[in-house]
Amino acid sequence: MDRILIRGGRTLKGSIAIGGAKNAALPLMATGLLTDGRVTLTNAPALADVVTMLNLLGQHGLRVEHDKAAREIHLDGGANNFEASYDLVRKMRASILVLGPLLARYRQARVSLPGGCAIGTRPVDLHLKGLEAMGAKIDLEAGYIDASAPNGLVGAKILFPQVSVGATENLLMAATLARGTTMLINAAREPEIGDLANCLISMGAKIEGVGSDRLTIEGVDSLHGTTHSILPDRIEAGTFACAAAITGGEVLLEGTRLEIFGAVIANLREAGVAMVQEEGGVRASRLNGLHGVDAVTEPFPGFATDMQAQFMALMSVAEGASMITETIFENRFMHVPELSRMGARINAHGTSAIVRGVPRLSGAPVMATDLRASVSLIIAGLAAQGETVVNRVYHLDRGYEQVELKLAGVGADIERLRG
Ligand code: UD1
Repeated sequence: MDRILIRGGRTLKGSIAIGGAKNAALPLMATGLLTDGRVTLTNAPALADVVTMLNLLGQHGLRVEHDKAAREIHLDGGANNFEASYDLVRKMRASILVLGPLLARYRQARVSLPGGCAIGTRPVDLHLKGLEAMGAKIDLEAGYIDASAPNGLVGAKILFPQVSVGATENLLMAATLARGTTMLINAAREPEIGDLANCLISMGAKIEGVGSDRLTIEGVDSLHGTTHSILPDRIEAGTFACAAAITGGEVLLEGTRLEIFGAVIANLREAGVAMVQEEGGVRASRLNGLHGVDAVTEPFPGFATDMQAQFMALMSVAEGASMITETIFENRFMHVPELSRMGARINAHGTSAIVRGVPRLSGAPVMATDLRASVSLIIAGLAAQGETVVNRVYHLDRGYEQVELKLAGVGADIERLRG
């Protein structure tokens, strides 16, 4: 299995091209199930999760094409198989996003239950309750969600008791083809949901309230194909901002805009990282020293849970203490013992961790069991004395495109060890 070797101590300087957002690409690809027309997605990232979604859509019967050189995905034709098998769903939870579109358009779907994952139990009850409110009949049997709506889905008023990105996306897509009006109240407001809504609108959907926590969808009879450019990945960009900052460097995060970062910007600035909008993107640079700053993860526009591990790595070398509280997932401190092995002083208790900054980390062999935890170890390795080897790189490849080449391009001493 591939590993990443980092020799710490280099200052990062230069520009990094930020790819299309993974968390926008996956739901956007599921829109291919809502139409027989051709859906073209541009600015598509070449990530393992995108390949998993392409395989899943291919299994459903769509014609799929991924032109990596042009960074384009083409989806064409209709579905003829309505089952999402355990083999693919267990690889990627976001596979659940085919449920709403299949049910809305084909009135039936059989999707494997995603089950637990490394960062917590992550149930899908909000997805299922919402679809039931829209008239679907749902049975759970032998690890599968068996869903049907023989007379089609009907619009409903759905109040989410808890903010969920995936449930908002699944129900938004389902509602575009439901009969009548659907209201999604306490909907998630992540920029990726706005991107999905705008793509659906370009396919002929009627959606109001885009960007707010209240989406109103007027169902239509059919949707047509479209071409849509995927918005830049704010988590990839934020990750590289932390990487530059921990080395005392400066990088231009090409193609990004300040608005998509949410509260992460304020935390970075308070910690001593300048984030400045320029014509070509956002420039992240460390001004002087780093200061310990608290962070609490929250739904957008709050501090993104997907940035928590990277920010913790940064805080591990800041002056003073930082309290980091995780409110979204119950088991998302798996990077703590690994960062500690590199010399970080972190005490995690329940949902909070106190990080007491140290002057220097030291390189070590480390591994992590999820995507953002893995990249936080790379960030730590960039500032550590000596060599760090990050094992289990396949997690990284799910969400970062050529992370080692992008970092080497701005001066990091980093390479992939094959095998
Ligand atoms: C998405 C992102 C993921 C990010 C997360 C939170 C994608 C592909 N993934 O995941 O990177 O970390 O948002 O920003 O976009 N919950 C329930 N019942 C449900 C659904 C969710 O209890 O039916 C809970 C979850 O366990 C979690 C919280 O709600 O505690 C938020 O989860 P959710 O926003 O749904 O995350 P995902 O859509 O899975």
